Amino acid sequence: MAQAPSRGSTAGDVVIRLRDVTKSYGTGAGRTQVLRGVSFDVDAGEFVALVGQSGSGKSTLLNMIGGLDQPDAGEVEVLGIDTLKASDARRAKMRNESIGFVFQSFNLLDHLSVLENVILPAAFTTKTTTHATQRGQEALRRVGLSDFAKRRPGELSGGQKQRVAIARALYGSPKLLLCDEPTGNLDSETGKEVIDFFRELNAKDGVTLLIVTHERRVSSVAKRVIAMRDGMLVETSDEALAAAHGGGPA
Ligand SMILES: Nc1ncnc2c1ncn2[C@@H]1O[C@H](COP(=O)(O)OP(=O)(O)O)[C@@H](O)[C@H]1O
Ligand SMILES: [Mg+2]
Repeated sequence: MAQAPSRGSTAGDVVIRLRDVTKSYGTGAGRTQVLRGVSFDVDAGEFVALVGQSGSGKSTLLNMIGGLDQPDAGEVEVLGIDTLKASDARRAKMRNESIGFVFQSFNLLDHLSVLENVILPAAFTTKTTTHATQRGQEALRRVGLSDFAKRRPGELSGGQKQRVAIARALYGSPKLLLCDEPTGNLDSETGKEVIDFFRELNAKDGVTLLIVTHERRVSSVAKRVIAMRDGMLVETSDEALAAAHGGGPA
């Protein structure tokens, strides 16, 4: 029998289910095997940190879960949808309606206002702009930026920019939030605020969180830590975690 996949202790609804996921880029001598058979489950309401050294395949895995990339082989089931078998339209719908993304580099458009950035995902799905505006304002309120709706991202601090990106991710009331090193460009105080916000989002609203991070601060508040090395999951012992964070044993 295959090795039992990593999963949380409380069995609930499965939000992410990965089985033997493999992925390579390039061909011939330039071929890189990025994922070498990754299996794990994330249940509804979990807060999971995904750690591992640079190049270990974390972003590739996250993009796959978000339906932005496809594996070579294996199973990727997200929110009950088999992302390999689903049509492009079905995957896009899942991404728009049920998943929020937060990236290290914020990915805001500078020529749009803060509010316009937040409601950008709706531009593809909704026709009524008043409704979108109201929801956008509500998302900004949740991240404490109600007064900044008309500003441009360029006028904001790094922490504020990331909060705008989080508001955009929350716009569609996602069940699952995928974050790729969300505090990587923030100073430690601002990073802490962002993490506290994620924690609250998980505890109060039950949003399932999968956060790629290098920072101990994040992995220490997560309820479960998954570590990757060279495209595979490794044991999450204290030593393994220390190595995955780039340092020696704690
Ligand atoms: N689109 C791509 N084309 C070619 N190689 C890629 C691509 N995306 C990622 N890689 C390679 O895959 C490996 C894992 O990358 P990535 O998933 O970004 O790792 P991490 O997020 O853990 O730093 C790296 O060696 C990277 O160079
Ligand atoms: Mg990465």
